[in-house]
Amino acid sequence: MTSATEIRRSGISVVGDRPWGTHFCNFYESRKDLLDMLLSYFKAGLEDNEFCVWVVSDPLSPREAWDGLREAVPQFDHYLSKRSIEVFDGQDWYLKGGTFDSNRVMTSWNEKLDRALDRGYAGLRGTGNTAWLQKKDWKAFSEYEQLVNDSVAGRSTILLCTYSLNSCGANELLDVVATHQFATARRRGDWELIETPELKQAKTEIKKMNDELESRVLQRTKELEAANQRLSQAQVELAHINRVTTMGELAASIAHEIKQPISAASINAGTCLQCLQRDVPDLLEASEAATRVVQAVTRAGDVISEISSFFKKGVLRRELLDVNELVREMIVLLRSEAIRYSISIRTELAENVPRVLADRVQLQQVFMNLMLNGFDAMKESDRRGELTIKSEVCDRQLLISVRDTGLGLPPDQAEHVFDAFFTTKGNGTGMGLPISRSIIESHGGRLWATGNGGPGATFHFTLPAETALAQAPSSR
Ligand SMILES: Nc1ncnc2c1ncn2[C@@H]1O[C@H](COP(=O)(O)OP(=O)(O)OP(=O)(O)O)[C@@H](O)[C@H]1O
Ligand SMILES: [Mg+2]
Repeated sequence: MTSATEIRRSGISVVGDRPWGTHFCNFYESRKDLLDMLLSYFKAGLEDNEFCVWVVSDPLSPREAWDGLREAVPQFDHYLSKRSIEVFDGQDWYLKGGTFDSNRVMTSWNEKLDRALDRGYAGLRGTGNTAWLQKKDWKAFSEYEQLVNDSVAGRSTILLCTYSLNSCGANELLDVVATHQFATARRRGDWELIETPELKQAKTEIKKMNDELESRVLQRTKELEAANQRLSQAQVELAHINRVTTMGELAASIAHEIKQPISAASINAGTCLQCLQRDVPDLLEASEAATRVVQAVTRAGDVISEISSFFKKGVLRRELLDVNELVREMIVLLRSEAIRYSISIRTELAENVPRVLADRVQLQQVFMNLMLNGFDAMKESDRRGELTIKSEVCDRQLLISVRDTGLGLPPDQAEHVFDAFFTTKGNGTGMGLPISRSIIESHGGRLWATGNGGPGATFHFTLPAETALAQAPSSR
């Protein structure tokens, strides 16, 4: 089905292209003008897959219509054999049974449209002439035209009504103009378009509304872009702050937990020393104090291993994840950051990658760290920045790599980048990579870095693939 708002070629130059639902009239002076106009009107309709109905009245005859069409329309036989056009005599069409019945004529047009659509045409193009019209029928016909004008909107129909200018009095002329969307007339040798005030008004209003809408859309787009940029900036900052606060909190709790056993150990070690330094060393008390030192130190050791095992196992919320999807999400998230530094992001994602059982937020953090590190390394470089994220399947493992064209790893320090607090950045924490590595290892994978043998660095990590569950729907 075609849309009822679709624009069609009228085939008449002064009329131009018009949407379905157009109902207009033409005042002609000469037979030739009328014939020329209608032939070019139907030529456009036939060429554009419209079903055509030509209701002919004086001064033309059906015979002239057929002959004219054959001459004016290339390959007319093709349309003829498809029966794409029908020509009716005005008397038969409008005055069946001897009287004019507006409902009956309306029904005929509607039936033609239904059949046209059934037969696969885009819609209906029709014309009628009023030469048969007698004075007594004028009022009824005028009402019929109004009815057509009111009902044509939204239908895949174009209707052109032709009136002889010479036989129209001023009153009739006004009636006709009022019951059509617009009129065409030959004046001083040129075709002119006369629009009704309503149409003009409506058009101005539509234009005004369109302009307004357009500027509002532009404004909104700008606002959205700005908001997006702020959002991704905020995300980047948040990732950083998150790491810093996690470390701050961690440091505070480690300090609190370890301070106590250490001060206990220190006091007891002092006691132990005093006992041994006496003239007569009190070995019993000294060994009791030494035992308490051992206990306190063991306690401190326990606290440390408790903390690091918490880090390793963590309280993870694991789910089956499609890593490719995660990569795409991260790219969206960091897009405006990339645009800001003219960095292009490419992906080489293997198809049908098995899912991994992983903590979404933690994996996002790993991607965020690696991608931002890549951005940082490229911001400093004069080369055009390109970040490539690749996924592939290797030995039942998922292998992900993030490759940049930046400064490259510090020479001979490739492994140091994973050391806690190692950073070459003024505002870096040096914890991005060690945290990422501990996340990947807690998922049963490995994370390492290699030089590119050219500009830039590549970070790789593996994740065990949940092959057996590869087809299971995400539990998200
Ligand atoms: N893609 C890379 N190219 C070159 N050097 C890198 C790259 N990634 C990391 N490095 C080096 O490793 C160091 C440590 O990185 P890490 O992510 O641990 O901390 P950071 O990026 O310095 O700080 P933060 O992550 O808190 O912003 C960086 O300062 C940088 O010197
Ligand atoms: Mg970093």
